[in-house]
Amino acid sequence: MPQLESRIAELVEKFTEVYGSSPELIVRAPGRVNLIGEHTDYNDGYVLPVAIDRDVLVAASRTSDMHVSLYSVNFDRVAGFDLDRPIRRDSVNKWSNYPRGVAVMLQKRRKRILGVNMVVEGNVPLGSGLSSSAAFEVASALMFKALNGFEMEDTEIALLCQAAENEFVGVNCGIMDQFVSCLGKKDHALFVDCRTLDHESVPMASGVKVIVADTMKKRGLVDSEYNLRRSQCEEAVSILRTYLPNIKALRDVTVSDFKSHGHRLPPTVRRRAEHVVRENERVLESVEALRAGSVVIFGRLMDQSHESLRDSYEVSCRELDVMVDAARRVPGVFGSRMTGAGFGGCTVSIVADDSVKDFLEPVPEEYKSRTGIEPAVYVCTPENGAEILPYTEPSVS
Ligand code: GLA
Repeated sequence: MPQLESRIAELVEKFTEVYGSSPELIVRAPGRVNLIGEHTDYNDGYVLPVAIDRDVLVAASRTSDMHVSLYSVNFDRVAGFDLDRPIRRDSVNKWSNYPRGVAVMLQKRRKRILGVNMVVEGNVPLGSGLSSSAAFEVASALMFKALNGFEMEDTEIALLCQAAENEFVGVNCGIMDQFVSCLGKKDHALFVDCRTLDHESVPMASGVKVIVADTMKKRGLVDSEYNLRRSQCEEAVSILRTYLPNIKALRDVTVSDFKSHGHRLPPTVRRRAEHVVRENERVLESVEALRAGSVVIFGRLMDQSHESLRDSYEVSCRELDVMVDAARRVPGVFGSRMTGAGFGGCTVSIVADDSVKDFLEPVPEEYKSRTGIEPAVYVCTPENGAEILPYTEPSVS
């Protein structure tokens, strides 16, 4: 994988080729992998993701008008929109909808933004559930902030980017992806309370690596099933409220509440709610385990999370289950689970440093022999959240 320095050099070269001068700044925003706490964010619950060393880079300069020009290195395409006209979704250059949505949300919040020239390049695999879209939104927001000189806290940027995704792009996601892309910390996982947005960086266990395995199964059903799960969770809350009048979301239902009242729910809704209630509990236990340096317990909780997502929340698929099964056969794998929304995409495994070599070839081989699909495997390092990269615009002599 090309190093950051060489990617930046190529980005600057591309920017200069497209716009005739070098950029004023370069922004980086990472993708993410969630270690545990799946389908809990939109239930006001807890999550524990890491920002990863796969990111979106944006090079940009101000212009003297109200036009935003975009060039995507990955798609080799140009797009653009005017800030002084209604900004609409682009159904051809869909990738350009992320900065469009961010611009709309900034305008809604009365931030004055002026025209820019942008080049974007990313190495977060697209459509595999590692949040390339959140990364592009966050990079765009940070760029507009820096070039237009307004103040905005990281938490507010995350919320703004989530609003762009929900209201402009039309995907009803929770806050996790944008939040960790803004606030991730190197060598740490980010424990987030998705109701209060209180957060804490928790040191990653030492002596282990985070391995992401992409099943390369396109996440077909994800949007409709995701929305269905959300409404089933809401249904559970509205039924349980008769017995637990103070609850606002499944986050407020404890395991013991659930034992007392879960039987009041229709069977499918009951399984969905049980996943969320227990998954929240698992996140809290995982944070304790990481703090205590107990990677064995942490791994076991990850395994349980997968079982629950497969059997109760029913968002796994054969490919994810095969990948998890193949990973767990490797001695030195502490835990392995599907990560993200599900129905395809990636698994995440926690693997002892010494066992990484025993993972990198055998797991993809077994997966391929059982599914016929060639997967992609990445050893990921937890990285910092979005930032303006040190870069000095060459002076004109
Ligand atoms: C997607 C969404 C997140 C979260 C996960 C499931 O990645 O974007 O907000 O809901 O699914 O945990």
